[in-house]
Amino acid sequence: MSDPSTQLIHHAYTPPAGFDAVPPAVYKASTVIFPSVAALRNHDWKHKTGYTYGLHGTPTTFTLEERIATLEGGKFCTLVPSGLAAVVLVGMALLKTGDELLIPDNAYGPNKAFAHAELVAWGISHQFYDPMNPADLAAKLSPKTRLVWLEAPGSITLEFPDLPALVAAVKAHGQTHAQGIVTALDNTWGAGLAFNAFTLGVDVSVQALTKYPSGGADVLMGSVVTNNEALHHLIHFCHMRVGYGVGGNDVELVLRGLNSMTLRYAAQDAATRQLASWLQSQPQIAAVLHPALAGLARSRNLEAGLHGRGLPFQRCVQARLHAGAD
Ligand SMILES: Cc1ncc(COP(=O)(O)O)c(C=O)c1O
Repeated sequence: MSDPSTQLIHHAYTPPAGFDAVPPAVYKASTVIFPSVAALRNHDWKHKTGYTYGLHGTPTTFTLEERIATLEGGKFCTLVPSGLAAVVLVGMALLKTGDELLIPDNAYGPNKAFAHAELVAWGISHQFYDPMNPADLAAKLSPKTRLVWLEAPGSITLEFPDLPALVAAVKAHGQTHAQGIVTALDNTWGAGLAFNAFTLGVDVSVQALTKYPSGGADVLMGSVVTNNEALHHLIHFCHMRVGYGVGGNDVELVLRGLNSMTLRYAAQDAATRQLASWLQSQPQIAAVLHPALAGLARSRNLEAGLHGRGLPFQRCVQARLHAGAD
């Protein structure tokens, strides 16, 4: 069961007796009725052992959370209404006034915009670092640093950083301070298929399920996965306070998309490699940005980071035109 294409189709789910259908049922709820006031008061809010209110989970959302956690090789998953909401939830759950976060300079733009606007207003500072230079990250870590974002490949430039070196720089620094530093990866491009974030030492992996898991360009959703129970509780309780619930119909679309994700991912990888090499031969094109193009540092880091998952990389390709070209 270690192959992701198998994990994504066959997963722990118990259908009602006598109805052994392949897809899990879609449950929708706001209010959930407790059998007694005592049962409500005695409920364990810390662990997802039961149902309390639709916002906090249904059998359908719990099924998707389990599947995404399994896909990523993590233990705990929290679903949110978009990929950006996943980035924002991590910041809200882990940062407080006086903290600083570090963001790769090629990160997804709205991650930077949230830091510029809301986090600055809440007294939380940030610095950008060059993800292709682990020494630059190391130099910017300070006793104020609480969160370090990673992205592989980075949005727009599609540079693939040396993730183990970046994580090692953070861990080396974290050991000298009482307060640990959390590393969070925006794993939207890797989708939990290209490499395993947790074997690389990352603490939190975030995805826009909007992209590969959904696959249909018709749903917005995000996930926050971790192996660390203490971090999960911070994220889970913040999630309950800010009302970031997801709807059953949207979850159904993502569950459906997961069945074909490994096939789509491989097909998109083949298509973008072909597109990238065609673009390279075009006279108007000044540069083609693709994480797997041979000979580049980003490509070597990508191969080093794959760690035996064996799945290729993926649909992203960018081209820069020569000045004046159409
Ligand atoms: C790398 C990355 N992270 C996060 C997001 C945000 O996802 P969503 O559109 O679901 O908010 C995107 C969306 O384009 C993205 O490309």
